[in-house]
Formats: sequence, C-alpha cells, structure tokens
Amino acid sequence: MHPHVDIHCHILPGLDDGAPNLEVSVEMARMAREDGTRHIVATPHANFQFAYDGAKVAALRDELQAAIGPEPAILIGCDFHLSFENVRDAIANPRKYSVNQTQYQLVEFAESFKMDAMEGVLSQLLQAGMVPVLTHPERNPVFQQHDDLAGRYVQLGCVVQITSGSLTGDFGKTAFKTAMDLLDRDLVHVIASDAHSTKRRVPGLAAAEQAARERRSAAIAQALVADNPAAIIAGRTLPFFPEPRPTKKKKMLSFLRG
Ligand SMILES: [Fe+2]
Repeated sequence: MHPHVDIHCHILPGLDDGAPNLEVSVEMARMAREDGTRHIVATPHANFQFAYDGAKVAALRDELQAAIGPEPAILIGCDFHLSFENVRDAIANPRKYSVNQTQYQLVEFAESFKMDAMEGVLSQLLQAGMVPVLTHPERNPVFQQHDDLAGRYVQLGCVVQITSGSLTGDFGKTAFKTAMDLLDRDLVHVIASDAHSTKRRVPGLAAAEQAARERRSAAIAQALVADNPAAIIAGRTLPFFPEPRPTKKKKMLSFLRG
C-alpha cells in the first residue's frame, strides 16, 4: 500500500476553527497515522476571519511534530481564501502560502463569485508561477450549478482537490453527487481530509480511497490519496492528470448530433 498524503488539514492548535489545543492536534495526528496517513500538510485558514502568521505556523508545526514523533510528518501550507488582498500578497510573496514551499497552492472560493473574474485571478496566480489547487469545488454552490466550471479551470492549469467526506456522504447529497460527477469525468486530482477535529470532519483518507476505488479503480483511487499528493508536496508534476471528459450535457448533445 502506498502511504497516504493529506494536503489539507486544520491540525495546528488554536489558529482557526480547527484543533482548539495541542491535545486535539496530537489526537488528530494519531487518528491519521492509524488510518494510513504518513504526511499531513497543516493548512490554517487565511481569510477575513483568520489572519495567517507564517512564523507562528512554523513554531506550532515544530511543537506538534515534537509532541507526536516522526510520523506523520507535518508540513506547512495554507487554506488560502481567494480575496483581493490575499491574491495580491501571494503574488508579491509566491511561496508564502504554498504547500511545503512548492509551486502548489490551495485556493478556496467564496460561496458566490463571478466565474470570468475568477478565471482572471487564477490566470494571474498561474502567471506568477503558482499552481492553484481548487479546494472542494463539490461543496461550492457555483461549481455545483455549473458543471463545466471545474473543467474550464483545469484547462488553465489548475488542480482539483475534493474533500474525503464528500465521497462518503458527510456533506450531503449535492456535494456527494457533484464529487462523484467530477470523479467520473477525471476532474479530481487529489482527495484530502480538510479535517477540523476528532469528531466531525476527521482525519484519514482510507474510507474515501475505498469509495473512489469502488467508483473508478484501485489505481485511480491510489493516485488521488497517495501518488498525486506525494507529487504535490515534492513540487513535481502530477503522475495522474488525465484529459478531462465532457459534461453529461455535452455528451448528450454530441449523441443527439449523431
Ligand atoms: Fe479547509
């Protein structure tokens, strides 16, 4: 079995709405390890509610790693909200918010946004040498309502990360159906936990790997929880990055055209 790599996890204590204290962080790390996760990228929020302090994040990472021992290895990233201020700061400091100081950077969308304007923002990040990793589009109303949108952003060069719990139904029917549709069309590149606690939204990728295996194949499931996220933390190109397939609507149209 290839060890799992979780690139999105609110495991650091007291920084945001994730682990409230070190005790919970240590317990989350233990749950992740027992579930098969060997690397966790700690991704505190950077949004209107929670500011991102790189020095503080690094110090808390060290403290947590010392408390848990070598496994899982804790790396640093950020759950980066796509606000105007954030994007400007990221372009000025291209590795400040990225995953393990690579070119990959998680990007979180607002509940509502203008699709064309956001395409411009993503292009700016790409031009600045970053590869945006779209976090859980399956949970976002705009992506849920526009099934061509994720594919459009992938064509630009973005990567798609869905939340493990979406594949097991924890985020409701719409997120489940949207996640499965993305998975069917090869528009998912990474599954991450986006864990916030030990009770709800928990660490561990094994259940989601199982769901992806049943839906697609063992090889694809392994790419999404192990091979692709391992490439991301190493700053390599993704081994699994297939040409996306058309939406069902387009498939239907080409069928009608004969
Ligand atoms: Fe998150």
